[in-house]
Amino acid sequence: MIGICRNWEFTPEWTGEFLSGSGIFTKVDIPHNVGDIPLHYALPEHYAGIVGYRRRIDISESQKGKRIFLQFDGAAHISTLFVNGKEICTHRCGYTGFRAEITEQVRFGGTNLVALQLDTTENPEVPPFGFAIDYLTYGGMYREAWLDIRNQDYIEDVFVRTPSLDRAKVTVTADGAWQEIRLRVQDQQGNVCGSAVIGAGEDTAEIECPGAQPWNTESPQRYLLTAELVAEDGAVTDVQTVKFGFRTAEFRTDGFYLNGEKTFLRGLNRHQSYPYLGYAASERLQREDARILKNELGCNAVRTSHYPQSHYFIDECDRLGLLVFTEIPGWQHIGDEAWKEQACVNTRDMVRQYRNHPSIVLWGVRINESVDDDGLYTRTNAIAHEEDDSRQTSGVRYIEKSSLLEDVYAFNDFSHDGTTPGIKAKKTVTPDMDKPFLISECNGHMFPTKPYDTWQKRQEHALRHARVQDAALASGEHAGCFGWCMFDYQTHQDFGSGDRICYHGVTDMFRNPKLAAAVYKSQSDREPVLEVGSSMDIGDYAAGHLDRFYVFTNADEVRLYKNDQFVKSFRPKEWKALKHGPILVDDTIGELLETIEGYKGSKKRILHRCLVSAADHGLANMPLFDKLLLGWCMVRYRMSFEDGVKLYGKYVGGWGDKATVWRFDGIKDGSVCVSAVKTPGSRLHLDVTVSSAELEEGDAYDMSGIRVRILDDNNNTAVYAQLPVQFEITGAASLVGDSAVTAEGGMCGNYIRTNGERGKARLTVSCTGMEPVTVEFTVK
Ligand code: GAL
Repeated sequence: MIGICRNWEFTPEWTGEFLSGSGIFTKVDIPHNVGDIPLHYALPEHYAGIVGYRRRIDISESQKGKRIFLQFDGAAHISTLFVNGKEICTHRCGYTGFRAEITEQVRFGGTNLVALQLDTTENPEVPPFGFAIDYLTYGGMYREAWLDIRNQDYIEDVFVRTPSLDRAKVTVTADGAWQEIRLRVQDQQGNVCGSAVIGAGEDTAEIECPGAQPWNTESPQRYLLTAELVAEDGAVTDVQTVKFGFRTAEFRTDGFYLNGEKTFLRGLNRHQSYPYLGYAASERLQREDARILKNELGCNAVRTSHYPQSHYFIDECDRLGLLVFTEIPGWQHIGDEAWKEQACVNTRDMVRQYRNHPSIVLWGVRINESVDDDGLYTRTNAIAHEEDDSRQTSGVRYIEKSSLLEDVYAFNDFSHDGTTPGIKAKKTVTPDMDKPFLISECNGHMFPTKPYDTWQKRQEHALRHARVQDAALASGEHAGCFGWCMFDYQTHQDFGSGDRICYHGVTDMFRNPKLAAAVYKSQSDREPVLEVGSSMDIGDYAAGHLDRFYVFTNADEVRLYKNDQFVKSFRPKEWKALKHGPILVDDTIGELLETIEGYKGSKKRILHRCLVSAADHGLANMPLFDKLLLGWCMVRYRMSFEDGVKLYGKYVGGWGDKATVWRFDGIKDGSVCVSAVKTPGSRLHLDVTVSSAELEEGDAYDMSGIRVRILDDNNNTAVYAQLPVQFEITGAASLVGDSAVTAEGGMCGNYIRTNGERGKARLTVSCTGMEPVTVEFTVK
């Protein structure tokens, strides 16, 4: 296929003049978003309209006799395609791709005008529209477009699935005349592992591949299937290839099994939106999100809420071994008969377009959180099974005991409010205990948390994710749990904070981690993780009392040191199933009464108890028994009132003392694997990470995500550094967002894109009082 992402003309207002080819319009490349999207307070009006894209395509005389197709991977929301002024087709979904044959309309040996009229409004005729929606549905031709030139006889579609770990089942749809279709499976090194032939009158064959390496979350081996269309005279008239993996995926009553092995789906929900860009993100950014989910957030699964997403994102899930639950577009609302018909079309398109991805293990065939509609969902469920005999179906509900027509009951369990149990039991939710069950969403609106909220709030946000994940894992009856959600997202005025952002993410909009990210990250042993819930700054505590807080880590144990003196060691306690539950630190005095004050035996024990009690409750509100104990102790050990005040000031209040240095050593297999130091910082610095410093001008432009954090001397995010951060770029790339962005909770970001040039680009990120950071990019 030939990329046609460059050199489009764009009009925010579709007119007859645009279709006729006359006039001069803005040049754009796709992925393209209609209108500028501000970081806060974005509105549908920023991108809504009946807009147009057009492009001239030369097709040479020598192509005569070929069949010409156009393919659009995603345009939001209703597309009508014209070629040389003639209407070709209308596609009524912004989240699936479409393809059209234009052979009849093409001028061979001439220039052809391709035009796309795009309705980017919330047209209630098509899903997801017709009611309120909790996310912005940015408009534009936001995914790639292609020109496909084929022979008269050609392969339309190849579908590969693996009924067992050494067998591929391949169905080929071909158009025209052919004698046979030769199939061949090769490994990554090109070695042929198996082959088969589909004879005339057939469409399916099985290929045995003994010894194939399975596709799994740890080692996602992929193979290449080649299908050759062979004519009667033996000539090969078409060749198509598909990447796939040998894996079995099965939801059973008690959980999910990947290749026969029970695997709990620990995941997050992902929207496809980006600050400034809307939906229009390049291939690299799409892939980057999968990498962040798998490698930074330690997830093994993702739900593409609430629509099918970029093939680049899903391909990266295939490449990295990230399991996917994908679903048809929609949000709570079901429209009229024509609308429902469209939901059925969307189901068929989704399954056909995405079924070769080994990472996809479940189809969502219901409108997210809609009421029961057995008529509609009997159809969508049947369509998914008809188009794919290898995967199970589900659909996301917020209602309990709703009509279960699909194979898996997916439930948004928002029952945890901080005090209630993490989850609802399966029997209270599902109408059928024999069918598998999973949590498709939790937390989210139950506890929106901004990066600049108090540490107490950020910690509670993290703990709620930990509690629900723990309870779901411990139940033994949940196949998985998908937290809501991966990152903060822009939404409609009916939702979110006043700036129309839902601060529901475990990362911010730029994918900078909030504390809750550490809950997910620490479940993986990929790299040492240790994040302290508390700021450890006395000014962040009422009366300066450092009481209990949590450490989020994948170490087995945390050793706490105060000014280099060992205090105490802590291990995870209250968790039933999490591999690495957050560790409660409930004593910042520990051994210090002995090592510093020289107290031993009962004197040490009683004073310790009284000081911890004072830290927990405040001196005035200590339980009576502890107060009496303290009084007794002071008499018994002849301590004066001043002695008591001193101890209190030193071990509880911390007020007026030299700033304390707290060190947390994470211990694994007996030795320190990670450390964090908390002490009031004196110098801040910028930390800049980019998706890639090597960019490529290819069929489409390239982008890099820029993530910025302001860190203190000990590399802790300086949450109160709400400072303006400047971005300046020169050379072969341009800035996409604002040139000054406020760090929120010490974090912000931006995007850069290639601008048609090749060579070097230099990005300088600066903030008053800090050393600027320069990143050099190479554009190939
Ligand atoms: C769910 C919904 C999501 C999101 C979430 C917020 O009800 O499916 O799209 O709105 O609530 O917690």
